[in-house]
Amino acid sequence: MTKHLYIKTYGCQMNVYDSARMAELVEPLGYAPSDTPDGADLVILNTCHIREKAAEKVFAELGGIRRLKSAKERRGGRMIVAVAGCVAQAEGSEILRRAPFVDMVFGPQTYHRLPEMVAQATRAGGGVLDTSFPAEPKFDHLPESMTAPGISALLTIQEGCDKFCTFCVVPYTRGAEFSRPAAQVIAEAERLVAAGAREINLLGQNVNAYHGLASPNGPTGGGDWSLADLLRALARIPRLERLRYTTSHPRDVDAALIAAHRDIEQLMPFLHLPVQSGSDRVLAAMNRRHRVDDYRRTVEKLRRARPDLALSSDFIVGFPGESELDFRATLDLVREIGFAQAFSFKYSPRPGTPAAAEDQVPEAVKAERLAELLALLQQQQRAFNDAAVGKTMPVLFEKPGRHEGQLVGRSPYLQPVHANAAADRIGKVLPVHIIAVRSNSLTAVIAGSGGAEAGR
Ligand code: 5AD
Ligand code: SF4
Repeated sequence: MTKHLYIKTYGCQMNVYDSARMAELVEPLGYAPSDTPDGADLVILNTCHIREKAAEKVFAELGGIRRLKSAKERRGGRMIVAVAGCVAQAEGSEILRRAPFVDMVFGPQTYHRLPEMVAQATRAGGGVLDTSFPAEPKFDHLPESMTAPGISALLTIQEGCDKFCTFCVVPYTRGAEFSRPAAQVIAEAERLVAAGAREINLLGQNVNAYHGLASPNGPTGGGDWSLADLLRALARIPRLERLRYTTSHPRDVDAALIAAHRDIEQLMPFLHLPVQSGSDRVLAAMNRRHRVDDYRRTVEKLRRARPDLALSSDFIVGFPGESELDFRATLDLVREIGFAQAFSFKYSPRPGTPAAAEDQVPEAVKAERLAELLALLQQQQRAFNDAAVGKTMPVLFEKPGRHEGQLVGRSPYLQPVHANAAADRIGKVLPVHIIAVRSNSLTAVIAGSGGAEAGR
């Protein structure tokens, strides 16, 4: 009998990857994915701790789940409720204390034990807690992926972080930096491509700090592989059209990675490279280990290697001690670099991180700065999208669009592109003419299609 599994995923793409693996882990136990928690036999909240009041939001969500669980129990059924991910890691037993109907709490490094935990929760009626950081990496225990990936697939190659930026919880929730062995990554990439993926997005909290055990069949005998080595090896997989990676740290962009952007055709000219602030004083207080000028020079080198490289970034405004002058420096840097897109956040204190204990910038100031930065970044994003009109560029089509006869794909610069094309074009890279910009996407016609009707 099929049992229903509902997973709600919060936060980053790494959580999206983890959720897919969790679904695969419990599939042999008879759980099939469902898109509602109502009536589900197993509910997993795969949580994120990066945003403000993350734990409170999880407890609020759990209130709704508790009602569904009680309703199911009244009908004589059973619902196992799990809290996974970074809030689970950070809050641990506090979750079982405040929400005793939760059956399992486990962190990002122990979800490979999910089948045992489900069995244990079923037998014992809950109370399963596993937020350890096992010495044995979970990747060695995950089954080979069985579900079909999309055209664009995610592949976690690195996890955790040793950088300890003073605002960030990641080193505490995901743990110490760890890189998967190159051979394991290549094997997973080959499986994804055999199952239909044409683009792979390599994931890691600090993906360019990758230093995985060398692949025995690789060109560079012993030692560790860098991200550049890995990209070169992956680029040799037939039918893998595109490679991307995220998220990078400016400090770990080395000469080999820059050369990879110059040499590897499959490596897309789009890079998410968070700078956080345009002020050296703030960067030092954040323990970012790079200065504004390092960022500037890295971007220059990258653009020399790949002139059409589009950049994305993360910014934090209102970090403790950020003056008006510091904030102006951030705006200046944004104007100087020019971003195709970016994310900006008001600083929000995370318990247990060093910056949380400092004097805070008033909320109203943070809000004002955020609005000003957002306006500038939106203007840059619009200009970047507008500049695409009239150009021809290769688009990898990923899925049907909302309108009949329309497909959606991505430009090399990660912009969503709509065009009218037959469904058998899904998974293909085709040249398109960009004819218009909409709020968050581009409209195009397939080049050489004799001016067929544009995607709406
Ligand atoms: N407050 C605000 N933004 C944060 N980020 C991480 N921690 C915090 C925090 N405490 C932002 C950073 C990071 C992105 C993923 O989230 O900009 O790059
Ligand atoms: Fe967090 Fe990134 Fe800094 Fe690591 S490098 S502590 S993940 S912001």
